[in-house]
Amino acid sequence: MSADIGLRFDTNGVDWAEAAAIFERAPLGTREPDTLRRTFENSDLTCFARDGERLVGIARALSDRTVQSVIYDLCMLPEYQGKGLGTRMMRAMLERLGTPSCVLWAVPGKEPFYARLGFHPMLTAMALSDDPEGAAARGYITL
Ligand SMILES: CC(C)(COP(=O)(O)OP(=O)(O)OC[C@H]1O[C@@H](n2cnc3c(N)ncnc32)[C@H](O)[C@@H]1OP(=O)(O)O)[C@@H](O)C(=O)NCCC(=O)NCCS
Repeated sequence: MSADIGLRFDTNGVDWAEAAAIFERAPLGTREPDTLRRTFENSDLTCFARDGERLVGIARALSDRTVQSVIYDLCMLPEYQGKGLGTRMMRAMLERLGTPSCVLWAVPGKEPFYARLGFHPMLTAMALSDDPEGAAARGYITL
């Protein structure tokens, strides 16, 4: 089923309200459509999965295209999860990024999905946050 879904890597024609709805329904949190648009338009690589006209999955990455990349915001509609689409989007992005190193922050509990793609837990990642208590409550940092 995932094979029928088209992947695109440019932001042309993206309905950001549709993208924000995916972000919320996945669920990955809440992001205003215009905030989502700015984060994607300012990224080095974006990936959009479409089932026909319908946007069903999104992801983005920052990259120096030489040494390091960081992948953010991979998510898809619940009814499209567990069918290989996330793996396809990750592989397509990693191939396009082409850097020897890539990092990401998994949603707590999603680490096994990334481990299957060859990612390892990081032991020294450090984060600056304007809401450290919230980040700690969501399981991303320790205080
Ligand atoms: C996490 C997510 C991106 C994975 O994409 P997906 O299309 O559902 O995953 P796939 O179907 O490609 O899964 C590939 C394999 O990983 C496994 N897998 C997926 N999520 C997993 C999890 N949380 N824990 C363990 N294994 C998992 C699947 O069982 C599958 O194994 P199989 O090939 O033996 O069947 C997607 O489920 C999603 O959008 N979730 C909600 C938002 C989110 O948490 N995003 C991650 C941000 S870090």
